[in-house]
Amino acid sequence: MKILFLDQSGKPGGAELCLIDIAKPYRDRALVGLFADGDFKTLLQQHQIPVEVLTTKPIQVQKQSNLLQALASIKQLVPLIIKVVKLAKKYDVIYANTQKALVIGAIASFLSRRPLVYHLHDILSLEHFSSINLRVAVTLANTFASLVIANSQASQTAFVQAGGKPEITAIVYNGFDSQKYQISDVEIQKIRQDLDLEGKFVVGHFSRLAPWKGQHILIEALSQSPPQVTALLVGDALFGEQDYVEELHQQVAKLGLENRIQFLGFRADIPQLMSACNLVAHTSTAPEPFGRVIVEAMLCGTPVVATKAGGAIELVEHGVNGFLTTPGDSQKLAKVINTCVQEIEITTAIADYARNIASQRFDIATINQQISQLLSLVKIGLSNTKVVNFEDDQD
Ligand code: UDP
Ligand code: GLC
Repeated sequence: MKILFLDQSGKPGGAELCLIDIAKPYRDRALVGLFADGDFKTLLQQHQIPVEVLTTKPIQVQKQSNLLQALASIKQLVPLIIKVVKLAKKYDVIYANTQKALVIGAIASFLSRRPLVYHLHDILSLEHFSSINLRVAVTLANTFASLVIANSQASQTAFVQAGGKPEITAIVYNGFDSQKYQISDVEIQKIRQDLDLEGKFVVGHFSRLAPWKGQHILIEALSQSPPQVTALLVGDALFGEQDYVEELHQQVAKLGLENRIQFLGFRADIPQLMSACNLVAHTSTAPEPFGRVIVEAMLCGTPVVATKAGGAIELVEHGVNGFLTTPGDSQKLAKVINTCVQEIEITTAIADYARNIASQRFDIATINQQISQLLSLVKIGLSNTKVVNFEDDQD
């Protein structure tokens, strides 16, 4: 099947990293069209996935844009739409991986008469989006998409609550190659030496720096933890959150934690770094649509604590394969950290169990199989299928 993937971002966020795994099996007959240049293009090239930057002009609409701003951007989109329509005629399916890609993909689908698939990586709620953006996304998906692939039950539920048609949705979790997360002791020792972590209890936070990802909650929690607890903040401000980065540095200085917190910026060696941690903390203050980092920590065999909201609840069962804490509550997080410092045996058993289950539940080959089955239905024109939840099938 020939697929035209569309993604608005030039930067490698979670949705883009997921797209690499989805596009890979189709790379000899697919194209990923991007609406911005950047490191994501390089990553796709490294995986031998054909990629073309279709525009370098930034699309002005933001997640919180109002109607006027949205309308003003339409004129600017015409050359991009013409390009996508022309390209789409050479492919069987248009696969939109982000919201702006949905807008362009929907118009192109109508004009080129190619079916549209929308991979929904977001929780479409007012916490994350303006009401106009919500309405546009749901209306376009309802009208033009043959299939909406939601990255979690939480994202699917929010889509339906916002007026999305349940019968066009399917829930497919992100897939992972568990081999990539098996790191040798030698490599782990080297990282711990390089980062001066020996003898310390290391809590890792792996995420772009953004207020709703809650790095400030971990910093606060650290000030309530024993002195041997240190933290690694891995990730960069991908979407211009420079003020927040500044605030984080000020908070660290104010709490006198300079010697216990390292900012590592964006890194490509996530499995190695995660494996060198004693605990991975996910601290999102708003519901996380899925949360790749949670699964990645499990695959590394590193214990994980996540905030109890959105997709994270589908991934973590408290005390069984990880820990759950209350979003925005640094005291509760500090309590979990302290438990993990003290209860090493139980925590290790939980992490071992999590690794085992996660390597089956999120196996990339199985997930790609699910996507392939869905795309075959779309290709033969079968829209309005019932909700497909592959998770339920396994029960
Ligand atoms: N990540 C990375 N380098 C970094 C920080 C994060 O490669 O320095 C990856 C991380 O391993 C994960 C993804 O970025 O696969 C983030 O995805 P997630 O679903 O956790 O959150 P998102 O940023 O997409 O909301
Ligand atoms: C988005 C979501 C994140 C999810 C990722 C992959 O970036 O914010 O929660 O894990 O997509 O589906």
